[in-house]
Amino acid sequence: MKVGIIGAGIIGLSIGWYLSKEGIDVTIFEKNEAGKGATWASAGMLAARSEIEPGEEYLLQLLIDSKNLWPSFAEELIQESKIDIGYRKEGTILIALDYDDASKLKSHYNYLKKIGIDVEILSSEKILEIEPFLNPNLIMGLYSKEDHQVDNRLVALALKEAFIKSGGILKERAEVKKVVITNDEIEGIIAKDEFYKFDFVVLSAGAWSPLIEGIPKHVIPPVRPVKGQALSIQMDPSNPIIKHVIWGPEAYLVPKNDGRLVVGATVEEVGFDNNITVSAVYSLLKACWEMVPSISEFPIKEIWSGFRPGSRDDAPILGPTRIKGLIMATGHHRNGILLAPITAKGITEFIVKGVLPSYIKRFTLDRFNTSWNEYKS
Ligand code: GLY
Repeated sequence: MKVGIIGAGIIGLSIGWYLSKEGIDVTIFEKNEAGKGATWASAGMLAARSEIEPGEEYLLQLLIDSKNLWPSFAEELIQESKIDIGYRKEGTILIALDYDDASKLKSHYNYLKKIGIDVEILSSEKILEIEPFLNPNLIMGLYSKEDHQVDNRLVALALKEAFIKSGGILKERAEVKKVVITNDEIEGIIAKDEFYKFDFVVLSAGAWSPLIEGIPKHVIPPVRPVKGQALSIQMDPSNPIIKHVIWGPEAYLVPKNDGRLVVGATVEEVGFDNNITVSAVYSLLKACWEMVPSISEFPIKEIWSGFRPGSRDDAPILGPTRIKGLIMATGHHRNGILLAPITAKGITEFIVKGVLPSYIKRFTLDRFNTSWNEYKS
């Protein structure tokens, strides 16, 4: 059996690695460099619990199941790649800097409790005891101990290594121009003017997924770019001033083992405009400074932007389509890093056993099937 994967972000690489470990012949095609798109731009949070919003409850179990897979996924990845991926278990603290924030945070706490999520209310004294460089005027906070994080960039490098080691073929700077489909069945893909025959093609090209030619209109995934701008500030790695993931009212802070403090991120509906803007940098720095006043003299290391693949309902699009052999693994929006293990597990199970696992059944493309009905009539 031969599988072609379009896109070498965390999703494509994880699926490729899992399939290769099953002895399947896999080739991944990446238009740029593996792992350097949304995966590189993300902050690496595994925030199944604190990032959930009202209206997203249908997604919660998938997020938690994937979070529960992360420790073993990480362990195996480290073993295979020999790369430490910076898995950190300090947990996440959400903070309120004024009484308005505190009232919002208390409503969020009530909502989380109602949907069965275990978070703890922390007093300002307690928070300042564990994170003494946070703003001393903060009012209160919530602690979500299970919301861990990884170094997303190291995960990308490790997955690339593990995929290749397991026998997978990675073609970088090889843009897939077209998916070739005959009689509603996949034949293969065309990349760099060459045809490659496959039994299955997995579409995991993130925000670019709907742009691949050859996919009939009724099967094009409803995915759009949701721009995020972020930056990092360099702390002393041997004496970092922030240790937990911190969610403030206007930004989040994610400390990495190499001393970078990632400050993110904007959420913008501006298509593929990748400009770094004054207002984004200003608001991220202001939000960070309000949370950690002593950050002012620290050097800024990097500023970047990326594109989350947002689906119509913000949930991923996973599994088979009306085209035999064409599989979706896209639309992961704000949760690509978190959902990589369960996506890889579910798609691999489907390809290997031919049965769609129950946990991804409700996330197939068919949930948006209005155009399919138009097509059929
Ligand atoms: N999950 C963080 C973000 O999308 O900015």
